[in-house]
Amino acid sequence: MDGGVRLSRWRADDARILDDLVVDNIDHLRPTMPWIANEPLSLADRAALLAEWEAAWEARHDFDYLVRHDGEPAGSVGLHVRQGVGVLELGYWVARKKNGLGVASAAARLLAGAALAIEGVHAVEIHHDAYNAASGRVAVNAGFTAISYYPRAPAAPDDSGTARRWVLLRG
Ligand SMILES: CC(C)(COP(=O)(O)OP(=O)(O)OC[C@H]1O[C@@H](n2cnc3c(N)ncnc32)[C@H](O)[C@@H]1OP(=O)(O)O)[C@@H](O)C(=O)NCCC(=O)NCCS
Repeated sequence: MDGGVRLSRWRADDARILDDLVVDNIDHLRPTMPWIANEPLSLADRAALLAEWEAAWEARHDFDYLVRHDGEPAGSVGLHVRQGVGVLELGYWVARKKNGLGVASAAARLLAGAALAIEGVHAVEIHHDAYNAASGRVAVNAGFTAISYYPRAPAAPDDSGTARRWVLLRG
């Protein structure tokens, strides 16, 4: 728990919670989140997606968490195995009505700390489009250090084609 923020693993029976969060925030997420292009999903497809997330967790590939703020569903945060051995990539999104309250920063801090406590994990990275200044502030607030810019094909409407990479190393 950090500033009223609590994380819990997404479960297959959370389809209604995820559906409400995403559907209420389609316009908010569309500029930066590539997967929003497939929205809105049916409730059945949402449940199937959560089942995929459970399978990805069991396969030790993706670890996705529901973010709650003051007890209310507020967003999602996850760790992903896609940056090489011993490195986890952290991603996040927060509902518009919860923006500016420090929710993403607290969730990133909590999850990065938990990740670095896992044996064999030596770094957590954040990669976001360079245009997404708010995401960069989240990285700073969570203690990450910016290490590079690199070209990345635009995948969402506001993407610039340049990504920024941040790292937090095991202390
Ligand atoms: C980016 C996002 C995760 C921020 O969530 P949040 O809970 O509001 O974040 P926090 O309150 O912890 O911190 C937001 C920071 O961004 C800053 N910020 C907000 N809008 C900004 C903007 N347009 N330009 C620069 N900074 C901005 C805030 O001032 C704050 O920084 P500070 O603490 O130094 O003042 C949320 O807006 C979101 O989900 N956006 C859409 C999805 C997305 O972009 N996800 C990240 C993809 S990598």
